[in-house]
Amino acid sequence: METRLVKIERDAPDRETVARAGQILRDGGLVAFPTETVYGLGGDALNPDSSRKIYAAKGRPSDNPLIVHICRWEDIFRIADPVPEAAYQLAEAFWPGPLTMILAKKDCVPRETTGGLDTVAIRFPSDPIALALIEAAGGFVAAPSANASGRPSPTLAQYVLEDLDGRIDMILDGGEVGIGLESTIVDLTGERPTILRPGYVTKEMLEAVLKQVDVDRTILDGNCRLRPKAPGMRYRHYAPKGELTVIEGSPERVMAAVSQKAGAARAQGARVGIIATDETAARYRAQGIADSVKSVGSRADEEAVGRSLYRILREFDDEDVTEIYSESFSRSGFGQAIMNRLLKAAGHRVEQV
Ligand code: TXA
Ligand code: MG
Repeated sequence: METRLVKIERDAPDRETVARAGQILRDGGLVAFPTETVYGLGGDALNPDSSRKIYAAKGRPSDNPLIVHICRWEDIFRIADPVPEAAYQLAEAFWPGPLTMILAKKDCVPRETTGGLDTVAIRFPSDPIALALIEAAGGFVAAPSANASGRPSPTLAQYVLEDLDGRIDMILDGGEVGIGLESTIVDLTGERPTILRPGYVTKEMLEAVLKQVDVDRTILDGNCRLRPKAPGMRYRHYAPKGELTVIEGSPERVMAAVSQKAGAARAQGARVGIIATDETAARYRAQGIADSVKSVGSRADEEAVGRSLYRILREFDDEDVTEIYSESFSRSGFGQAIMNRLLKAAGHRVEQV
């Protein structure tokens, strides 16, 4: 199959391109598209064959459910029942946007889409290209992140092409995404709303709307023996080719420890990478302790860090580093999402200093 990469403007998506892409989805094909979080790999959510194709294209286990993307609030009632009061409140506050809700599914949603579950993950994204495509496709687009299984979620169309060229029909290239980490997932089917995956919409933001919100314990705790509730969080999603270690503590001690460990590893012949920040990158470089030092942005700007993390992990894979040392970030606010992805990539190899 030939994969067509088509440029499209975010602020004024070309109507003909959108119509063509929508037709591909209606015909059971696959189209990757930008959202405000990461690129998604879209298929018709109500067509079991499309969902099977998504799993095959990504090489993803088919018990890992997909998120159904909608482009109008009222479409939630066509695929979920009941829709609890909390869903109304969260939608009012955060939709369209980077929040996914888990609800009980209606029969029209095939189990192929939900990985065999009776529940369905629903998201109403804000990206204008995504919205136009969902509408053109008939309103319900299943879309996991558009990476090959085991690679970081793509923040650029070029990364989708690298992973899925020849496996999907089309990629809509709308440029770099805004957030860079996947949506927050909240389960509304239990006794209390529970965050299954942290994201841009933080616990604090959710609690400003709903009184109390639980957090799945497995999110930051590598020793936790419980089973994560989001099947996708069970898989060690992505591991860089190099062995990644996160160093956690006060910024000064972290910098000293990263320098010491990187220098020692390099002296032993390792090819060393460092995930630094704008505040520290130049100093590591001056020390000559690493083959590659990359800054994820300023420590003061967590949004920049979130946006560049997956790109930097991909770049290290291309550079064949064998050991990577990373600075750490706050475990609260948006930092919780950053640390969750970083710790997962590190297989929870974290050293406190
Ligand atoms: O930001 C995002 O959410 C992106 C963009 C494309 O929208 N999508 C995304 O999809 O990250 P994916 O498939 O890579 O991650 C979906 C996560 C998985 O961890 C999956 O297990 C979980 O959502 N999930 C989906 N349906 C679920 C359900 N019914 N119950 C529990 N977890 C569910
Ligand atoms: Mg994913």
